[in-house]
Amino acid sequence: MTETFSGNGKPRHDGRELLSPVWAHLSDHVAVRAEGAYVWDRDDHRFLDFTSGIGVTSTGHCHPRVVEAIREQAPKLLFAQINCMIPETAPKLAVALNQITPENLDCFFFANSGAEAVEAAVKLAKQATGRTNVIAFQGSFHGRTHMAMALTASQTLYRAGYQPLPAGTFFAPYPYAYHHGMSAAQVTAYCLRELESLLDHQCTPEETALILIEPVLGEGGYVPAPTGFLRQLRRLCDRRQILLAYDEIQCGFGRTGDWWAHARSGAIPDLLIMAKGMASGLPISALAASRSLMQEWPTGSHGSTFGGGTAIAAAAAMATIEVIEEESLLQNSLLMGEYLLNGLESVQSHHPIIGDVRGVGLMIGTELSTDGQPAGDVAVAVSQACLQRGLMLLTCGTDRSVIRWVPPLIVSREQIDAALDIFTEALASV
Ligand SMILES: Cc1ncc(COP(=O)(O)O)c(C=O)c1O
Repeated sequence: MTETFSGNGKPRHDGRELLSPVWAHLSDHVAVRAEGAYVWDRDDHRFLDFTSGIGVTSTGHCHPRVVEAIREQAPKLLFAQINCMIPETAPKLAVALNQITPENLDCFFFANSGAEAVEAAVKLAKQATGRTNVIAFQGSFHGRTHMAMALTASQTLYRAGYQPLPAGTFFAPYPYAYHHGMSAAQVTAYCLRELESLLDHQCTPEETALILIEPVLGEGGYVPAPTGFLRQLRRLCDRRQILLAYDEIQCGFGRTGDWWAHARSGAIPDLLIMAKGMASGLPISALAASRSLMQEWPTGSHGSTFGGGTAIAAAAAMATIEVIEEESLLQNSLLMGEYLLNGLESVQSHHPIIGDVRGVGLMIGTELSTDGQPAGDVAVAVSQACLQRGLMLLTCGTDRSVIRWVPPLIVSREQIDAALDIFTEALASV
């Protein structure tokens, strides 16, 4: 809304009109405060946040322990540029991460966003192997920078108009059983066959530095890869001598009831990428690998101004780990995830438009379809109807036909009940 004129002659706005229209919004409400699973807008409307800011506010909004850690760190050291002097928070965070990552992943590189950590993984893999190519999966989302975008195939929207993208990227089908109309065993066999075929026909292993996969597809539709697929993928990478990276930016850091979504498979990657929920809302990301692999990355050949140096983000990440451990949030994620999954299956039994309910822990997707076709318009309308009733839910999937359930790890039974009631009402209203 234009109000008065400021000194430089430009009209004064409430600010929203000055934001770039490139951002897509679930709503144009302005958030002013938040606590736990709730956010309030500036008209004091309260929203139950089952988006967690796309998986970021893992311990809930403004968890007191996280806020306190930021408050304690801020006057001591905000930032130390890691090329100039190592901020004490960087090695401390590495120690904390080393306690929760698989044994072979004991060396850490820090960045600021998910995309940056993906870029780092690709750059390390190229240097370590001397190879050029990367294989990702259909439906994957790895970020918005050029290489991460070249490895993203969840929607053409994210790529269209940005060509040329970096070369040397290839895609194999993701083991998305519902989409392919197959069982877990069938889709596993089919996708492995296609991947082998890609390596035989288009992208020779001798030129393939890395295979990159989300153990649970995020933006592409909230689809857990069958554990058997991850195990066989690991074997394939060993046999073909290709590095394997898991992008756990959305599915990691406790969301699936374990620290890492791949844990349920026992198939350990060579590189592990994390961000989002890592610091409960502060921007920080990390790439974990073995020290011997990291040693193949020539010193000085990568880095960034802020990466590793943001002491308050690192303090928030350490507090997040403590909170997840001390408040048993991995267990809560499992328990509440099961409760939510059961609740959604019960809603599904009365609403045949819900074609599939799937997920692990608190990363659950409800896929809407009519006559076997994705019902994206309905899913978007349901999400808007939920918003009007005070529940924030995002869609995902190529056709936006999946409603994603990604509440904070502190979510309670009562909050899930409230969300399910609103969802049921919203479904009936569209
Ligand atoms: C699996 C996955 N990888 C990478 C990214 C990119 O992270 P960022 O937006 O922090 O760059 C996202 C973001 O949604 C994601 O879900």
